Amino acid sequence: MEKETNYARFNAPAVDGRGQRLYIETYGCQMNVNDSEVVAAIMQQAGFTMTDQMAEADIIFANTCSVRDNAEQRVWGRLDLFRQQKQRTPGLIVGVLGCMAERLKEQLLENGTVDLVAGPDAYRALPQLVSAAGSGQRGVNTLLSREETYADISPVRMDKNGVTAFVSIMRGCNNACAYCVVPYTRGAERSRPSQTILREVRMLLENGYREVTLLGQNVNSYCEPGAAESQTVTFARLLERVALEDPSLRVRFSTSHPKDMHNDVLYTIAMYPNICNHIHLPVQSGSNRMLEKMRRGYSREHYMERIAKIREIIPECAVTTDLIAGFCGETDDDHAQTLSLMREAAYDAAFMFRYSERPDTKAARHYPDDVSADVKTRRLNEIIALQNQLSLASNRRDVGKTFTVLAEGNSKRSDAFLFGRTSHSKVVVFPKAEFKAGDYVAVKITSCTSATLIGELAGMKNV
Ligand code: SAH
Ligand code: SF4
Ligand code: F3S
Repeated sequence: MEKETNYARFNAPAVDGRGQRLYIETYGCQMNVNDSEVVAAIMQQAGFTMTDQMAEADIIFANTCSVRDNAEQRVWGRLDLFRQQKQRTPGLIVGVLGCMAERLKEQLLENGTVDLVAGPDAYRALPQLVSAAGSGQRGVNTLLSREETYADISPVRMDKNGVTAFVSIMRGCNNACAYCVVPYTRGAERSRPSQTILREVRMLLENGYREVTLLGQNVNSYCEPGAAESQTVTFARLLERVALEDPSLRVRFSTSHPKDMHNDVLYTIAMYPNICNHIHLPVQSGSNRMLEKMRRGYSREHYMERIAKIREIIPECAVTTDLIAGFCGETDDDHAQTLSLMREAAYDAAFMFRYSERPDTKAARHYPDDVSADVKTRRLNEIIALQNQLSLASNRRDVGKTFTVLAEGNSKRSDAFLFGRTSHSKVVVFPKAEFKAGDYVAVKITSCTSATLIGELAGMKNV
């Protein structure tokens, strides 16, 4: 048993935030971004207000990530800064939320800067934890839940564009990838009732949003909770229902696990033009020996068969991936197989990481972290260099084509240009003319780099 107090379950008295200002910083994945929006909703309901200026905050929350050591190091650096801010602002409350909170628990209180610690399933208790901290009681709540999906909470959107939004459809993870800390920090997998997902999507539509990304660590194993077998809503069904809400709403999803990515999802994507033609399918390694040791639950052959099926059912589909360089015991030959798989799969883009041992994971307990830092870096650099070539080749194939781009906002470099994405999730920069964020714009691609497509207007389209 953990020794934290679960305030939410004790029906603690309602807290009145009296307009105290909350500043939230978010690290880690898209799920964390969406969780911060849930936290904002919970806090606003309790009478707190949000600020995007740390200097004027009464409360600072850092919603943290533990997936690699450098993610945690960044947060430790921020805590030093918050300590200085505390010296300038008496009464300032600092909270650590998210995966690092779950992993380190009380340890986070030890350096004296942190007043409260809340794990990913404890956010309903935040108003009480803040109120207790205000009266000098430092609190920790890192209880994980088998049910919590924050299904009834409408996240307060903190993005500025008002065009694209994340919608969490499940929480936790039931896989046991040997390198990964997520199942420990996020707990067991649970799906959110589909009606609450659809309600949230409708609300976003009413508020002018044009794109939703359905989020989960393994969206392909979505399963309507409590439904009789005949009424089971699979991920393919859920995707279809979301797509049917409005043909002008773009639908994306992340992340797909190669072992659970079945053809029904591919046929659904092919059937609905508003489901984007992009699948993020993390492979991690091209070597069967490594995949086995990582406990990914598929072989290279199975993975490549899935890629072939994607290309057959959705010929224009973009495929992106995640890769880890230098996992335990990885040889030059294993690494060469990763490079060869990347070429075969011809990825459009990839997130690439140096293996980082996470305490208490299966890998940390069973395998020595025996690839030297230099070798990890060299292999990662080779992977990055190859992916740059593949991304550039993929972008060059698009030059001369016309795509429907959903405009998201002004381009970073100039207000005379907008940026947006194609269905394939490629970023396009194009002249603004009379267009604005939220418009669908037909753009003809004229040139590219390995990261961006550059285009000219080809007229306006409806979808
Ligand atoms: N649920 C998602 C991944 C979540 S973590 C999935 O299974 O695809 C995002 C990515 O971080 C992973 O795909 C993996 O490539 C990387 N990652 C996870 N743990 C890591 C570690 N210990 N070291 C380096 N990279 C890691
Ligand atoms: Fe981690 Fe694997 Fe779960 Fe992804 S599927 S979150 S990599 S354990
Ligand atoms: Fe990081 Fe937790 Fe997401 S460890 S990647 S914030 S699930």
